Amino acid sequence: MKFLVFAASHRPESYNRKLAVHTANYMKKKAIQVDFAEYAEFDMPLYNDAIEMPEIAGIFGKRASSSDGIIISAPEYNWSYPGSLKNIIDWTSCIIPNPLKGKTVMLMCASPGVRGGILGLSHLKTPLEASQLFVYPKVFPLGNCLEMFDADNTLEIKQSTLLNAILDDYITFTQKLMKP
Ligand code: FNR
Repeated sequence: MKFLVFAASHRPESYNRKLAVHTANYMKKKAIQVDFAEYAEFDMPLYNDAIEMPEIAGIFGKRASSSDGIIISAPEYNWSYPGSLKNIIDWTSCIIPNPLKGKTVMLMCASPGVRGGILGLSHLKTPLEASQLFVYPKVFPLGNCLEMFDADNTLEIKQSTLLNAILDDYITFTQKLMKP
């Protein structure tokens, strides 16, 4: 099994990136293959049907299609998810055959607020379902993220235990869907 893991933030000190790194490290410890991407690797122009599909959209599609599942840590912006992420989904949805079809996806968010960006994650499910991914029903909304990582970027123990248990369940969810 292989998972594409990335955070939808360009900030060098991004809390969502810290969550994505925790996730990638946990999966690697379990001997699961991880394709970790920096968000800047998927920078592409705004969707415009008057221009050619950018090469990078094809690269994103290939990295998604060569994975069994995708794990996205997406910040909440104005009670929703980042527009740049919607742009990636929109370009990818124009690729034939659909590289996202039948993949699983798990969503998480680090937010300084108490709700942990739950509304943004809820919105993000919709275009992913439209793209024919199987959206794992549990999300991981990490609230108060400014206090949740130590100086070494280690996630607080209670949250780490909770996230690892959800990741284990997500891996099983993906395994079940991959087996006919
Ligand atoms: C935010 N932030 C934010 N947080 C939140 O919990 N709910 C929200 O609706 C918003 N809205 C919002 C809009 C915009 C334009 C920005 C730039 C920020 C705060 C945001 O969660 C915070 O900056 C996170 O640290 C961003 O994630 P990264 O970059 O640390 O991964």
